[in-house]
Amino acid sequence: MEFLNEIKRRRTFGIISHPDAGKTTLTEKLLLFGGAIQEAGAVKSNKIKKSATSDFMEIERQRGISVATSVLAFIYRDKKINILDTPGHKDFAEDTFRTLTAVDSVIVVIDVAKGVEEQTEKLVEVCRMRNIPTIIFINKLDREGKDAFDLLDEIEQKLDLKVTPLSLPIGMGYDFKGIFNIWEQNIQLFSDEQKQTIGKKLTFNSISDSKLEKAIGSAHLELLKEELELIEAVYPKFNKKAYLDGKLNPVLFGSALNNFGIEELLNCFIEIAPEPLPKVSEERMVNPDEKKFSGFVFKIHANMDPNHRDRLAFVKIVSGTFERNTPYLHVRQNKKLKFSSPNTFFAEKKEIVDVSFPGDIVGLHDTGNFKIGDTLTSGEKIKFKGIPSFSPEHFRYINNKDPMKSKQLSKGIDQLMDEGVAQLFILNLNGRKLIGTVGALQFDVIQYRLLHEYGAQCSYENINVYKACWIEADEKSSSFKEFKRVKQKFLAYDKKGQLVFLSDSSFSLQMTQDKFKDLQFHFTSEF
Ligand code: G4P
Repeated sequence: MEFLNEIKRRRTFGIISHPDAGKTTLTEKLLLFGGAIQEAGAVKSNKIKKSATSDFMEIERQRGISVATSVLAFIYRDKKINILDTPGHKDFAEDTFRTLTAVDSVIVVIDVAKGVEEQTEKLVEVCRMRNIPTIIFINKLDREGKDAFDLLDEIEQKLDLKVTPLSLPIGMGYDFKGIFNIWEQNIQLFSDEQKQTIGKKLTFNSISDSKLEKAIGSAHLELLKEELELIEAVYPKFNKKAYLDGKLNPVLFGSALNNFGIEELLNCFIEIAPEPLPKVSEERMVNPDEKKFSGFVFKIHANMDPNHRDRLAFVKIVSGTFERNTPYLHVRQNKKLKFSSPNTFFAEKKEIVDVSFPGDIVGLHDTGNFKIGDTLTSGEKIKFKGIPSFSPEHFRYINNKDPMKSKQLSKGIDQLMDEGVAQLFILNLNGRKLIGTVGALQFDVIQYRLLHEYGAQCSYENINVYKACWIEADEKSSSFKEFKRVKQKFLAYDKKGQLVFLSDSSFSLQMTQDKFKDLQFHFTSEF
C-alpha cells in the first residue's frame, strides 16, 4: 500500500521554453513556493550566453550548473515534485529531447510579448508526437505584450495545440490589475503601482459579486465579463482525460518574476498533472506499480574533474523500487551491477538514497558501463523504447592531430558519444570518422573536452552532408544491392552498426527516395 501511495504522490515533469522566456525564474519560484529554497537567485541560469559561444570556461561553468540542476525535487502539499532541467540553448536541443523521454508531463513557458518562438515550436513538436500532457504558462504579464486571445490563437496555430484558458489576465503591463482564476474562481490582485508584490486574493461566488467591481473598476469588469463569455463560447471546457491524453492544453497567465500566478499554477499542476505513467518496452508495456524494478538511462554527465573519470548516469525509475547495494541487470551488457551510493536530488543538493520509487530519478556513478537509452532491471530482459537519435544538422570529419594519442582519442570520442554529446558515423568506403551534431557549438565542446579530459587533440574537416537517414530494407532485395552499389560513397554506419545514408542535398535525397521506393528512409534512429 505504501508503495502505491509513493507512486501516486509523484509528479515528474520538465519546463521547456525558448531562451529568456523565464524558465529559470519560474523553476526558482516553484522551488520557493515548495519551501525548497529560501531566497530568490539561488537557482543559477544554465544558459550559455550568446556572446560566450567560444568561451570554454563558460561551457564548463554551464556543465557544472547543469549537474546541480539536472533534477530539482521538492515536496508541495505532500506531493513529491521532480523537475527535470532542460538546457535552453538550441545547440543542446537533443539533450532536451532525451530528457523529455523521462518526464510524465511538461510546462511550456511563453513570453507574453514575444509569443511562440522558434525553440518552443521545436520542443512542443516532440511533446505533441508523444502526447505528453502539456500546460502552457504565459509569462511576463507585468510587461506590455500581445492580447491574450491573439496569443491563444497563435498557440493553436503555430503549436498545433488545442487550448483551454484556466486563467485570464485583467489588463496588462502598466495597466495590469491581476489574474482572474477560472480554475479556482478567484482573483489575485497586484497590491501596488510598481507591480512588485502580490496583493490580496479575492474569492467570490459569481462574476456579479460587488467586491469584484470595487476591486478592478467597472470598465475592467465589463471587459472581463465579455471575455469570459467568449471563452465559454469558443474554447472547450477543461477535461482532465483530454489533457492527460495530450489532446487539450490548459493555459495560465502570470509573472514569474513577481510571483504572480505561480501558486495558482502549482495548485492546478498538482491536481491535474499525471502521476508516473506506464512505459513501452520493445517486449511489453511496463506499469509503475509492478513490484520488480525497471528503469532507463536518459542522461549521462561526465565528471568535471579530469582526474576522476567517473560519470553520473541519470536513471528514471519506471517500475518497482530501486534499492541501494542491490544487484540489477544491465540488459545490454547482460551483467549484474550493484550501486553503493546512488544519488537522489533534493532542491539543489545531492544525497545518497536507500530506496527510490517510480517517477524518481537516481544518479548512478558509472565508470563507463552506461550509454544513453540503456535499460536496468531486477532481472527481466526488456529494452525501453523512445530514446532515438535525430538526424544531426552539422557534419565534419574528425582527424587525429597527435598520432601518439590515437588510443586516447578513440576512447574520448567513444565516451563523449555515449554521453550523447554528438553522433559518430563511420564511412563504409574508407573507415573515416564523421561527427554529426545538432548545433555547431558541440564541435568546440568536443575538441575542448577531448583535450582537457583525454589529452587528445583533434581537428575537423568540412564535408558536405545535408542529412543522415537510417535505412531500412530487405537486405536480399536487388534494389537494396543496387542502392549500396550506386550510393557507396554516401553510406556509413552509426555506433550501433545501423546503415545510414548521408545525402548531400535535399534534392539528391528526394531523388534517391524516388528511385529506391522499397527502401525506407528514417530521420531518427528508432523505427
Ligand atoms: P530562461 O531561463 O527561459 O532563459 O529565462 P530566465 O528565467 O533567465 O529569464 C530571462 C529574463 O526575463 C530575466 O531577465 C528574468 O529576470 C526576466 N523575467 C522572468 N520572468 C519575468 C516576468 O515575469 N516579468 C519580467 N518583467 N521579467 C521576467 P534578465 O535581465 O535577462 O536577467 P536577470 O539579470 O534579471 O537575471
